[in-house]
This record gives sequence, C-alpha cells and structure tokens, in this order.
Amino acid sequence: MRGRETEYDEVIRSWSEDAEAFWLDMAKGVDWHTPPTRALDESRAPIYRWFPDGELNVCQNALDRHVAAGHGDRTALIYDSPVTRTVERYSYADLLTHVARFAGVLRDQGVGTGDRVVIYMPMIPQAVIAMLACARLGAVHSVVFGGFAAAELAVRIDDTAPKAIVSASCGIERDRIVEYKPLLDAALQQSSLAPETVIVVQRPQHRCALIDGRDLDYDALMADPGLVPADPVPVKATDPLYVLYTSGTTGRPKGIVRDAGGHAVTLTWSIPHLFGLGPEDTIFTASDVGWVVGHSYIVYAPLLAGITSVLYEGKPIGTPDAGAFWRVVAQHGVNVLFTAPTAMRVIRKEDPQGKLLGEHSLASLDAVFLAGERLDPDTWEWTTARLAEATGRDVPVVDNWWQTETGWPIAANPLGLHRFPAKPGSPTLPVPGYDVRVLQADGTEAPRGTEGAVAIRLPMPPGTLATVWGDDDRFVSSYLSTFPGYYLTGDGGMIDEDGYVYVLGRTDDVINVAGHRLSTGALEAAIASHPAVAECAVIGVKDEVKGQTPRALVVVGDAAEVDRDELRRELVALVRAEVGPVAALKQVDIVAALPKTRSGKILRKTMRQIADSQEAPVPSTIEDPAVLDTVARVLRPQGP
Ligand code: COA
Ligand code: AMP
Repeated sequence: MRGRETEYDEVIRSWSEDAEAFWLDMAKGVDWHTPPTRALDESRAPIYRWFPDGELNVCQNALDRHVAAGHGDRTALIYDSPVTRTVERYSYADLLTHVARFAGVLRDQGVGTGDRVVIYMPMIPQAVIAMLACARLGAVHSVVFGGFAAAELAVRIDDTAPKAIVSASCGIERDRIVEYKPLLDAALQQSSLAPETVIVVQRPQHRCALIDGRDLDYDALMADPGLVPADPVPVKATDPLYVLYTSGTTGRPKGIVRDAGGHAVTLTWSIPHLFGLGPEDTIFTASDVGWVVGHSYIVYAPLLAGITSVLYEGKPIGTPDAGAFWRVVAQHGVNVLFTAPTAMRVIRKEDPQGKLLGEHSLASLDAVFLAGERLDPDTWEWTTARLAEATGRDVPVVDNWWQTETGWPIAANPLGLHRFPAKPGSPTLPVPGYDVRVLQADGTEAPRGTEGAVAIRLPMPPGTLATVWGDDDRFVSSYLSTFPGYYLTGDGGMIDEDGYVYVLGRTDDVINVAGHRLSTGALEAAIASHPAVAECAVIGVKDEVKGQTPRALVVVGDAAEVDRDELRRELVALVRAEVGPVAALKQVDIVAALPKTRSGKILRKTMRQIADSQEAPVPSTIEDPAVLDTVARVLRPQGP
C-alpha cells in the first residue's frame, strides 16, 4: 500500500467528499463571462452536462486573457518544421492578432455561433489559427487528419454539414509533397452537404488551382485592409467547441462532441497538476492536430494555461534523423515532451544506444509523457535508461491512458500533485474525477488483479465527451448501455492491489496502428467493395514498431479467375485510396473460407490470438473447426 497522504490523495478526497464544490472550485481557473453557479446538470442522465449556467469564450481564455494579464510578449507557439527548414515564433499578442483577423474572415463568410467548419490541414500555424478562430466565434470546428482519404473526409463533411472548409495546398511527408486539394475536391464531389466556401492556404512548396466562386486564398483574405477583426463571442459552457471523429466498431466514425466549459476547466487544470508545468514552461507534443492528443496538448491545454507549445511538422525519424525530437527539446528549451510509444520505438530502432540523444543538451527536459497506445515495459525501460544516461538525472517517463472520447488523461502519474513510483506496463493511478472500475461480464466488479472490461462510473468528469454529434441515442447505445451507470471504455484491463490501472488492449474491433486509431470495419468495407472479394476480415496483429498492423484475410468469389498477386496489390491500393495512407495495410492473405461461429460471427479475436502466437481458445460455438485449422496455418508466424 502507499505510504503517507500525498497531494493527490487530498485532491481525491476533496473530490469524493463534495464533487459539486470540487468542480466549481476548479472552474475558477478560467475566465467566465457568466460564472457557473452549478457544476453538474443531471436532468438528462445518463447524459450529463457541466457548468450548465456558465458562459465563456474558449479563445478568449486561450489568448486575450494572457495578453490582458500583461503576457502578450510570451511565446505562445513555436512552429518548428524541419521539412520546410522553418522555425517561427508567435507571441500571445501575435497569435491573438492572427486569430482575431481570421475569425473576422470566417464571420464575413457567414460563419456564426454554432456553425460548423471543417479543417483539413497539415501541421502549420494556420491550422491552429483556424481552430481558435472558430472557438472565438462560437463556431464548431471539426479537424480531419491529413492522412485520411477523400471518402473519409466526405463522410465527415456530410455528418457535420459545415458552413466552410479551411484547407491547404499541400502537406509534406518527409520529402514527399502530399497534395491536399485534389483530395478535398474529390471529397466535396462525393459529399451531399458540401459548403459554399473553401479557404485555402497556398504553401510555397506547392500552389494549387483555386475554383472560381468557391475557393478563396487565405493570405489574400487576411491581407484585406478592410478586414475587421472579430471579438470573442460568449457561449454557453455546454455548447459544442468541436467535433472530432474517431473510429468505432463499425465503419461509420463517431463524431465526439467536446463542450466549451468543461473542456476549458479540466485542460487548464491538467497542465500544472498532471504535467507539472509552470507558467514559463514549454511543451512539445509530437502528434498531429488531427488527433485528440494534438487538439488537447498542442493547442488547447498549453494555450489555456498560458505556456509555450511547439507545433512540429516532421517525424521522429527521417527529418533528418532519429535525433530530431532531442534537437527540438534542446533548441526550444522544452520541459515536457509528449508523444506516442511508437515514436520511441522507431527512434530506438534507428539509434539503439541513444547516441543522438547524447548529442543534444536535454537540460530543460523534466518529463516525457507517452500515450495513444499501450506503452510496453521494454520501451518504457529503454526510454528511461537512455534519458538517465544522457542527462545524468532521473527523468520520469509517464505512461498516460486516455481516448478521443475523454479528451484528457484517465490515468497517469500526476507529476504536479505527486510522483508515484512507476510500474512499467501501467499508466499508474486514476486521474482525479475519473472513478475507474474493472467489470466482469455480469456487471459486477472484478477482484483486484483480475482482468475485465475497464469502465468509468458516471458521471465522467468535465471535458469528456458530451455526446456523439447529432445522435444522443448512439452515444447511449455505444458507451452507456452495456453496464448501466458506467461509461464503457472499450479497453480491457485490471487494477492491482495498489490501485494501479493496467490497460491491456481493446475488447472491440478497433485497432491501433502507430498510435493511430482505426476501425477494422472501415478497412473491411473498402476491401469488400472490390468485385472479386466475396468476404473478408481485417485483424490487428502485433508489430514490433507500430504496436499493431492491419492484416486482411480475403475469400474470393471465383478463385480460378483471380491473379492472387494482382488482387493483393489492388486491395492494398484500394484501402489506401478509400481510407487513406495512414491505414497502412500491407498484408493480404487469400483463404478458402473464414472461421465463424454457428450464428455467422467471424472469429476475429481467435484469429488475432493465433497470429500473435497467444493461447487461442476455440469457441464451443464454432461452425467448422477445419476452416480455423486452415486459416491458422496461414496466420501462424513462420519460425526462423
Ligand atoms: N498526411 C498525409 N499522409 C500521411 C499523414 C498526413 N498527415 N500522416 C501519415 N501519412 C502517410 C505516411 O506518409 C505514410 O505513407 P507511406 O505509406 O507512403 O509511407 C502512411 O501515411 C502511414 O503513416 P504512418 O503510419 O505514420 O507511418 P510512417 O512510416 O510514415 O511513420 C511513425 C511511422 C512511427 C514515424 C509515425 O507514425 C509517427 O510519428 N508516429 C507517432 C505517433 C503519433 O503521432 N500518433 C498520433 C497520436 S498520439
Ligand atoms: P485514441 O482515441 O485514438 O486516443 O485511442 C484511444 C485508445 O488507445 C484507447 O482506448 C486504448 O486502447 C489506447 N491507448 C491510449 N493510450 C493508452 C495507454 N497509455 N495504454 C494503453 N492503451 C492506450
């Protein structure tokens, strides 16, 4: 058991004794137009709302507030782009000027409070500016990750029916230009709710053609001498700030809705208390603004807390080498580096001894946070040991577990409250506000140390998803109905005797490839659209670097007619074209039949266990064990 009472225990105690007072007190950390008098609205349980009578503006909290407090000269954003050899600094005052002007541009294009704006952009400052400009107007942004293909973008456009889209002419992937405009044009053609306005940042590396009457040039709009910057518009705390799509069990992504007030309150609190960052500090979150880690810890949390955030347009390796992250830490005096375990694994593969680490001064580095996928103990140990060698200090490597849905960590080592001893393989303890439980199939709690479904007792804390965009029923049926009174995380895991949480993997058909969350359903839908394919299944199998990688098993309609190699190539290309390069499907196996239960359910889990050389109990309901035997011969890793 843990020893003396820590600040963490005190916070947990004050939250469990009087949650209403606890959250109202935390809410004082942000500026309100109308301060809330109540924390929780339970009237529509199991859908809860936070700070129901409060009003605020999130952009005002992220920018104006700091400028008004005399911190306008502090650096808000450092844009570090090895792929364009650029480093640019934006002070809080600079960023406010850009954001207020771009909010004026959007307003002049008819964007108002509650309207949606889709942002499909690479990692450039204009992406951050566009997000904050939406927040300034009370408009709802929906950022779509650049690695998704046109069809995925079209689905998201049709779901949110945006008033405008903000995009860029291109992204840069290592040394490859990725033209965004053809993808955007294709998505707009496929979409039935395409907006009238498209604003495009023309990058010097590649300029694209603009369509007359629809496409507008970002720079030209911003340079208009008649442009009137927009003031922040107060919105209800319960109004949506953004929608971010994430993969679910089906191919249809879920639009996770983040509210304005709860999100601002918890993210502001998280910077000092979870990340241990002070007012003059710098965080470098190496993710992408298209993912939740980017939304929360490149953009909103650092700016709400008034610290400096690094926006990095590059990769952990190849831009130019595996020392890239350490170079950024040294050059910008980074205090916290936050990335995905995959990034550490690729760095380790290229620089196993950590020689490149030793070439940079990491004197400023206080901690490394890793999230987005399971942090395997080996990677934790390697990172910890190399940092100790390079710095001569004990730099904590903090595993933290959360999801697009929650928006901020569910479990972490809360460095700003207390540094607990790490247990490799565990993201440590529940973050105050999250009542984490492990449930058995019958809904009762699993004994300590026993695996089950990881769930969170309702209500979840502020900042977590308000609902699924436009579909409260889907919110309830996907997350809240399996175990009444609990939110189902979709992860399996356990809690040990000391209260440490272990997250062992998804219990549904979501896979995690290089920290990118993908739905096997979406990949299967793309594969099934090929005329030669009769049936298919996609499973996520273990990968040394990417954590998991997708593997497809395909049954063809008329086997005699098919050139197998050609079909494999076509299916890989199809997934890339339909879902996006980020789906990274490389392995396709053609099999005679797929193993199923008697009721027709494909045995994906059993196949995954076989491919990962795990124990794979054969369900008693299997239709034909011979089919599984044949598939197992294909799946089993070949010996050396
Ligand atoms: N726009 C266009 N294409 C993109 C893209 C984007 N924003 N992001 C990735 N892609 C492309 C890549 O170029 C790659 O294309 P390729 O098949 O032609 O090489 C493909 O999508 C697969 O990308 P990825 O899985 O990222 O593989 P990679 O080999 O390019 O990089 C890593 C591997 C580990 C370096 C990279 O995934 C990474 O940095 N991961 C860190 C984790 C992370 O950022 N997680 C986000 C959540 S925290
Ligand atoms: P995303 O919504 O893309 O952030 O993905 C969330 C999923 O990633 C979770 O449900 C987990 O399956 C996995 N995940 C994220 N962080 C961790 C972690 N620290 N440990 C284990 N799994 C994690």
